[in-house]
Amino acid sequence: MTLTEIDLSDTGFWGLPLTDRAAAFALLRAQPRPQFYAEPELPFIEQGPGYYALVRHADVVEASRRADVFCSGHGAVSIVDLPAEFNEYFGSILNLDDPRHARLRRIVSRAFSPRMVARFQDNAQLLAASIVDDLLATGPCDFVSQVAARLPLKIICDMMALADLVTGLAAERVQAPGEDLTSALVTANIDGEQLASSELASFFILLVVAGNETTRNALSHGLMLLTEYPDQRALLLADLEDRIEGAVEEIVRYASPVMFMRRTLTRDYAMNGQDYREGDKVVLYYYSANRDEAVFADPERFDITRSPNPQVGFGGAGPHYCLGAHLARRELNVMLRELLTRVPAITAGEPDRLLSNFINGIKRLPCQF
Ligand code: HEM
Repeated sequence: MTLTEIDLSDTGFWGLPLTDRAAAFALLRAQPRPQFYAEPELPFIEQGPGYYALVRHADVVEASRRADVFCSGHGAVSIVDLPAEFNEYFGSILNLDDPRHARLRRIVSRAFSPRMVARFQDNAQLLAASIVDDLLATGPCDFVSQVAARLPLKIICDMMALADLVTGLAAERVQAPGEDLTSALVTANIDGEQLASSELASFFILLVVAGNETTRNALSHGLMLLTEYPDQRALLLADLEDRIEGAVEEIVRYASPVMFMRRTLTRDYAMNGQDYREGDKVVLYYYSANRDEAVFADPERFDITRSPNPQVGFGGAGPHYCLGAHLARRELNVMLRELLTRVPAITAGEPDRLLSNFINGIKRLPCQF
């Protein structure tokens, strides 16, 4: 593919074989400046001004850290501008800037404290064991629905004590708080701060998406990678205890389950040789930053011993860094450990990939053992 043939706004690009996708991003990273793309055309939405594709690790890291310059408020999960009400309701905290972001983050992060996550640890272990029991009973099957989807969904449901009508539940929990995350959120008023019921509802929508699909896809990619790289599987099996954390980091780097977030410039700014103007849109391609040869030697190689591994799959360090990163790492750790201990020979077949520029998704993945 030549530079002019690459169009990140073309849905077809995201359906290309993964080796072609990787080669295209390598070519983009080799350019002296970020490329500028026209926005995808969508029905009923006015076409915006276009965007710069940030494909290098250094650019993604700086844009994440400088949230005062690269804001999320005009939309972080969509390249095109959506109506403001949409942004707020569906993106929740992701689409907010300070001071509202800081306030919401302060409140909700109490529910993600290590203590809160630890409470779900034993539960996750039992759950992983029962998922593998079922897998062994079922035999070769679709890995996504039988294995990868189950743990993250159940954990989120348990954490929220899942409510069909979240706001109604919130009202109840205020009266009679329990041990779950909903209770922690509605009663979180250490500094007199509390979530409004609309804030709670949209945060829940985000959690169900952010905490589910991402971890599920990371697990499916994990099985694919361990199938494609038997040497890495052998290495991991030889010392699971010592190497599992490195393997989880490397799976998240290689898979980059969330492929981008968007930012908008709050003022003119120069970064790594490129001048940006106030109002410019930039798209942070984690998928590409995680393959930047300036940071990762031989980036297309899956290497569970990579150290250091400054992957940005959970976002770059900054105010929006993934709130569930700790939880996601624990879930991946527990599930892979259980799977590889009890079904060490499990392999993946041909994946049915999701066609998306945002989520590096696997819809179905046959597995054998
Ligand atoms: C492998 C799994 C996961 C990946 C790859 C992932 C990735 C990301 C990324 C890239 C961001 C955006 C960072 C930014 O805009 O700078 C993010 C934010 C977020 N994630 Fe995750 N995530 C994962 C799992 C989870 C889980 C399990 C939860 C919760 C249960 C979660 C909750 C959130 C929340 C609430 C935010 C918004 C933080 C903010 O805007 O302040 N994520 N995640």
